[in-house]
Amino acid sequence: MKILVVGGGGREHAIAAALARNTTTEIFSVMAKRNPGIGDIAKNVLLVKETEVSRIVAFAQENKLDYAFIGPESPLEAGIVDALEAAGIPCVGPVKSAARIETDKAFCREMMEREGIAGLPKYRVFHSSPEAEEFIQNYEGDLVVKPIGLTGGKGVRIMGEQVDRSGAIEYVRSLNGEAVLEERLIGEEFTLQAFVDGTHLIPMPLVQDHKRAFEGDIGLNTGGMGSYSMPDHMLPFVTKSDYTKAIEIMKAAVAAMERAGQPYKGILYGQFMNTAQGPKVIEFNARFGDPEAMNVLSLLTTDLSEIVHHIAEGTLLPSHVSFDAQATVCKYLVPEGYPESPHAGEVITVGPHSNALLYYANVEKTGEVLVTQTSRTLAFVGIGETLAQAEQAAEQAASEVKGRVRHRRDIGTDALLEKRIAHMKELR
Ligand code: AMP
Ligand code: GLY
Repeated sequence: MKILVVGGGGREHAIAAALARNTTTEIFSVMAKRNPGIGDIAKNVLLVKETEVSRIVAFAQENKLDYAFIGPESPLEAGIVDALEAAGIPCVGPVKSAARIETDKAFCREMMEREGIAGLPKYRVFHSSPEAEEFIQNYEGDLVVKPIGLTGGKGVRIMGEQVDRSGAIEYVRSLNGEAVLEERLIGEEFTLQAFVDGTHLIPMPLVQDHKRAFEGDIGLNTGGMGSYSMPDHMLPFVTKSDYTKAIEIMKAAVAAMERAGQPYKGILYGQFMNTAQGPKVIEFNARFGDPEAMNVLSLLTTDLSEIVHHIAEGTLLPSHVSFDAQATVCKYLVPEGYPESPHAGEVITVGPHSNALLYYANVEKTGEVLVTQTSRTLAFVGIGETLAQAEQAAEQAASEVKGRVRHRRDIGTDALLEKRIAHMKELR
């Protein structure tokens, strides 16, 4: 099989590595900047922006590719799946109209409401700044302000935490009133990713990401600083009943898309807030999470190339998907100053890391020299029988990296996990 991987981050390195575990699969890559990890795996690389749809389709046709796996959201929004499928190349990833589940937050909320899907927070969609401003002025309690379109996970402002009322008003004004305003949910976040073939949904292990830049969950939101998963594929602050509800919500979303004549095919990512009342949907994404892809794909024991085939054919079964019963901890190294003013162009040196997997992201490699860029640099994934073992493996590798990069030492530690569990106990 010849499979195109679109995207050049840590997530796409993990996708390419998992696909390539099938030795009969040949990987082709499209990415804006050369990811050295993907570069080593791929038979052929096209360096263009992931939204350059017609050039990507031409590359796929020239190389007679069988399937494409779309990593990031921006090419989905640009209609890459529509174009590749029109050229006879089936994709893991939804067509543009179905990707609206992520790319249009108003579409997502309105679909959940229309279909009576559980886990919907109180929300209002606005297209006018004066109306949104008035709503904020009169709202009692904390609100979350979300731009309707894509923001790379960095566009959300939480009133009562990151901004006050006048800051929220200023923010909706800067968005020309194109915003979803919703109640601020209190709880613990978790990620549930699933393979979806249009009809069937097969879940992956639960993961918890860490969005904030610094230890103790302070600082700005980032693309994600790291993430962990547990040997039982659950999280200790998510009960069996919470989990069942989350799965039902995801299945209801897939069924709703199918009923609306926009069957959803690809990876469905559910970002949930586990609240006192159970899981609520923060958002759906139309792709793997980055970093969360690295946790789950490092544990996948079945063949991802085969899964791609079954997603394309609509024949996905639970027996096609299985994961090792181990814990994972993923830690991203990021340039100093990330995310506001990242130090790019710094030489870094990776130390011994034989106990962890290395996934490259936004980093240039010339010979053996690695140079930072403006986004997340590279990640280590530790795998172990226990969370502590996985954490030690990732931490050891991350702390051996020399140069102007940093990482969150607290991700995957028992102390942080205890804090999450205690928070959930306090809420319930
Ligand atoms: P998003 O871009 O929707 O993933 O939001 C980024 C982050 O903002 C989430 O991971 C949450 O931490 C936070 N967030 C988004 N929506 C809400 C909400 N309704 N209540 C509380 N926090 C939220
Ligand atoms: N890690 C969050 C995301 O990929 O959106």
